[in-house]
Amino acid sequence: MNKKILVTGGLGYIGSHTVVELQNNGFEVVVIDDLSNSEEFVHEKIEQITNKKLEYHLIDLKDQEAVDEFFSHQDIAGVIHFAAHKAVGESVEKPLMYYRNNIVGLLNLLEAARDQNIENFIFSSSCTVYGQADELPIDENAPLKKAESPYGKTKQMGEEILEDFSETYKKNVIALRYFNPIGAHPTALIGELPKGIPNNLIPFVTQTAAGIREQLSVFGDDYPTRDGTAIRDYIYVMDLAKAHVMALQRLLDGKNKKNYEIFNLGTGTGSTVLEVIQAFEKANKVKLKYKITERRAGDITAAYADKTKAEKELGWKPETNLEESLRTAWEWQKTLK
Ligand code: UD1
Repeated sequence: MNKKILVTGGLGYIGSHTVVELQNNGFEVVVIDDLSNSEEFVHEKIEQITNKKLEYHLIDLKDQEAVDEFFSHQDIAGVIHFAAHKAVGESVEKPLMYYRNNIVGLLNLLEAARDQNIENFIFSSSCTVYGQADELPIDENAPLKKAESPYGKTKQMGEEILEDFSETYKKNVIALRYFNPIGAHPTALIGELPKGIPNNLIPFVTQTAAGIREQLSVFGDDYPTRDGTAIRDYIYVMDLAKAHVMALQRLLDGKNKKNYEIFNLGTGTGSTVLEVIQAFEKANKVKLKYKITERRAGDITAAYADKTKAEKELGWKPETNLEESLRTAWEWQKTLK
């Protein structure tokens, strides 16, 4: 029997799309999720897409006993670790909750992985670790800036912990630094499920188009960019999911060049907030109500990826453009009404 791939947070946004991609590539997958920011029905939807059974355990990674008990019954070849809190604003209000969840959860998982001799580990990191980079596009050697939020710090700390873990225990680790993930599975059976008022741009856009929100606020039009609004690199979630499978395969094949590797995952192209609005309107033939407001505290001016390393080393190429990604986001939103 094939050894399994453990996906923590496998019912969450990027996790669920990655599980689909893993199952469709013949991997046997087991999911752990604590449902803190996901819904149990996603489990069924994944099975519906892949037409395969998916093993799933409701486990909170902060619960060390539960984690150890889980591993004692499993034969796992690799871990893809998504499970973490990710709301920047909330992390400023509840820093200790973020450190406990994102750091203690990671430590429990790594201790179990060490004790069970699990060799391969993929970590969900974020371009947030770069802060406002001095040079664009941002490559993996860009210096890390002090993170603005406890959330960002948990990603930086997570990377450091993993670097030491890989070095001391000779484990293979890849940290994937995502730019801005967007869109949904083409079946519109799974997608992003923000709880409450969305913080991120795309769910706010789709909820505004759906009439759930009155209008979109564009946070600042006085940035030093081509139209004054901030620039980000919006990457399609299924392209991200594919990158995870490629990174995992690299480790399983022993093709990694170092114990600890880092890859940026973005399209390489930056879009302004106004360009995103236009692309959404064009792709979906809907009008979006928006107004310009003040800048949001903590936002940077511009970030987009240098994806050369991921292309060269992983053989990964993003395939879906902004309009197509925004079309899937809207198809998904329409199923939620
Ligand atoms: C944020 C986090 C990042 C995290 C990512 C995914 C910060 C500084 N960064 O990225 O660490 O990994 O979410 O969870 O918070 N915007 C509007 N109106 C809105 C919402 C957003 O104009 O209603 C603008 C923002 O100002 C920004 C862009 O849209 O310029 C993207 O915002 P968002 O989707 O929140 O992502 P980031 O802030 O880039």
